[in-house]
Amino acid sequence: MEDLGEFLGYIIIFFYSLTVLNYVVKFINKKFKTQIRKNKSFADSYQKMMRFVVKNHRYFGFLAVFFLLLHFSVQYLTHGLSFTGLAAASLMILQVILGIYGQKKKKRGKLWLTIHRSVAVMLLITIAIHIE
Ligand code: HEM
Ligand code: HEM
Repeated sequence: MEDLGEFLGYIIIFFYSLTVLNYVVKFINKKFKTQIRKNKSFADSYQKMMRFVVKNHRYFGFLAVFFLLLHFSVQYLTHGLSFTGLAAASLMILQVILGIYGQKKKKRGKLWLTIHRSVAVMLLITIAIHIE
């Protein structure tokens, strides 16, 4: 049971990382555009990988929350509550609600993106504190 709880915690981090890759792959694509284009087959693979990451972004977020609920259930039963865990969980649920809002809205605007990105960073910090 202890191992399961820990394992579920790392699965949340795995899907969280996939959501953040959305930013990373686009950033690399922008910064290293010319280098990427030099090699046609690499550029094709990179484009495919980027499309996969962007297209499935929301599903990675949903899966993170799904495993969060499982992790919460197991940890609550074996250890009780965790303040740092609850802080990370609150931010993650807020982030998914923000994501759904942004997805639904046609004109998201710069402010929405800034908030959604900032919550992603705050989430990283709270997760780091939770598992330190
Ligand atoms: C985004 C949310 C969360 C993430 C990414 C996360 C991740 C993790 C990970 C990876 C571990 C294993 C760390 C280690 O063994 O050093 C862990 C442990 C733990 N988590 Fe979470 N967790 C989250 C939310 C929660 C919530 C909501 C609770 C509330 C019950 C919780 C309670 C615990 C407990 C009690 C442990 C065990 C600590 C110990 O063994 O000393 N976590 N978590
Ligand atoms: C753990 C959950 C999530 C994290 C950490 C996260 C993080 C991020 C980050 C860092 C970006 C910025 C990418 C960029 O700069 O282009 C982004 C963009 C975006 N996110 Fe999320 N996100 C999460 C969940 C979701 C969910 C569940 C949805 C929708 C249902 C969503 C919808 C969007 C949209 C629409 C964008 C902007 C356009 C795009 O790149 O697709 N996010 N997210």
